Amino acid sequence: MCGIVGYIGKKPVQQLLLNGLKRLEYRGYDSAGIVTLDVTGKPTLLRAKGKVVELEAKVREHRTRDSVGIGHTRWATHGAPSKRNAHPHNAGDLYLVHNGIIENYLELKNTLSKRGYDFKSDTDSEVLTALIDSLYQKNHDLLEAVSGALQLVVGAYGIGVVSDKNPDELVVARKGSPLIVGVGEGEVFVASDASALLGHTDRVIYLHDGEIGLCTRDGVQLYDSEAHAVESQIETLELDLEAIQKKGYKHFLLKEIYEQPESLRSTLSGRVHTDTMTAKLGGINMTNEELRAVKNVMVIGCGTAYYAGLMAGYIAEQFLDGVTINSYIASELRYRSFTVPDNTIALIVSQSGETADTLACLQELKRRGVKCLGVVNVVGSTIAREVDGGVYVHVGAEISVASTKAFTSQVAAIVIFALMMASAKGVNPKELSQYITELDQLPSEIEKVIEKSVGDVKKVAKKYASYEHALYVGRDALFPIALEGALKLKEVSYIHAEGYAAGELKHGPIALIDDRFFEVCYLQDNWLYEKTQSNLIEMNARGAHVIAITDTDRRVAAETVIRLSTKLTLLTPLVFNVVSQLLAYYMAVAKGNDVDQPRNLAKSVTVE
Ligand code: F6R
Repeated sequence: MCGIVGYIGKKPVQQLLLNGLKRLEYRGYDSAGIVTLDVTGKPTLLRAKGKVVELEAKVREHRTRDSVGIGHTRWATHGAPSKRNAHPHNAGDLYLVHNGIIENYLELKNTLSKRGYDFKSDTDSEVLTALIDSLYQKNHDLLEAVSGALQLVVGAYGIGVVSDKNPDELVVARKGSPLIVGVGEGEVFVASDASALLGHTDRVIYLHDGEIGLCTRDGVQLYDSEAHAVESQIETLELDLEAIQKKGYKHFLLKEIYEQPESLRSTLSGRVHTDTMTAKLGGINMTNEELRAVKNVMVIGCGTAYYAGLMAGYIAEQFLDGVTINSYIASELRYRSFTVPDNTIALIVSQSGETADTLACLQELKRRGVKCLGVVNVVGSTIAREVDGGVYVHVGAEISVASTKAFTSQVAAIVIFALMMASAKGVNPKELSQYITELDQLPSEIEKVIEKSVGDVKKVAKKYASYEHALYVGRDALFPIALEGALKLKEVSYIHAEGYAAGELKHGPIALIDDRFFEVCYLQDNWLYEKTQSNLIEMNARGAHVIAITDTDRRVAAETVIRLSTKLTLLTPLVFNVVSQLLAYYMAVAKGNDVDQPRNLAKSVTVE
């Protein structure tokens, strides 16, 4: 959740670290800091509360020409956002940046306090710094000290450490938090996210869990947790600078909403064939016999990724007779005593491929011998590397903290997988062909709907932005869309919003309706239309302020109607969702919020 950067080479490092931190700021943005060492090891430590621009102002007043350093942008876990709690932390000779959580930090803190360490922050990360320093003081071997300390630690970490006794080394390590090393000529870059390396090098090494890297100007040597040298594999980074720029849009969120036709085309490309009416995924590593044998599919994710699984399940069960599809919230599943029936496979859904709870479920299911397939965006991410096979959704970098284009493509990818399974099970191809046709039409339908509805959505957003609460309701596949719509709204506009199955209204939430609420009701023609309309009428009867999002030509008795026209039927909920994304975006803009970096949130939740 925090961003880590590091560099050792010949270039002045301060600006380089700042630029890296700006690219990683979407991972955490409540405080930031850097430390650099000069040739004698003299440190310059600069930290600031707030965004990286605050730190930048400090750097301007303390320019150095140092060429080794580490930096951090924080998402607070232990201790409030403040300069004192900002990284890098210092203990003895060492400076450390950390992403993750050290679970046994209180116990370690007690022991280290007795040994004379005096703690200035509330963080677990400062304790880890002191722990490594306590071992470092024995013989000033940083690699050995890091390895020794990490064996005493319970928790998750991605770390970068430097010592003021040796400005020629930077040590990194990971367990449960991503870390990438970029290799250049006479220089080594470190980052928790590939985007910080763009423009510097495309030769990267992804550290595996438990690995430690000793970086010098000559390159990097990897070690296992006990400091035995291990081989590393240099891979080519497939991400370009363009992908992480706003390209004229005011916010990444808007850019990513508008990008959906294109990002979806990348997801579908080479996988959905309307000439043969087939759908195929390359990387799932399953034979037709294996697909035929599947009786139970567990779809696992968090937040938007969970809703994508839920939504895809509603669609897939329409054509996958005899297969049970259930979606699970990863943070719940991991602590449940669940039973896995025979012939189960799991789909692990994650944009970042780093979400801690999702990863934990993957590891538990693998331990139980369940075949796990990933539905992941970030290439080379931990989940992508640990699954038995799977599909990259290929939506490109998703920078805005609120997930949009990933959702649409996650649903599409799971539906493609389900179509493959249906076909292997001998479902009549005619039954599947409409899904294939609609998947193929979906990008242009989204394009059309954005173009035609954006004007209306802007006006509606302005009209309702001052409301305090919102209820989103829909039936069938529009229920997960209601959940996702409400999540998007609360994340970026801070309007309290809840998603409900429309049929559940009278079982409780209808009691909430008053003038502080508006209600978003999804009404799809020819799809439980009359049932949902009854819910709408019931809401009207209680003075509700309903915004109906609909594709019908019929008269809709709602305070406000956003009418779309689409040739889709089966996948219409996905275009409705794009309208909700726009609504959330324009409400956040109307309220003057920080749209791309909403308060308290961060992209990529690598802690529990
Ligand atoms: C919501 C959002 C989050 C993520 C969730 C899972 O807009 O972005 O709910 O969907 O944290 O993240 P990934 O997909 O990276 O596992």
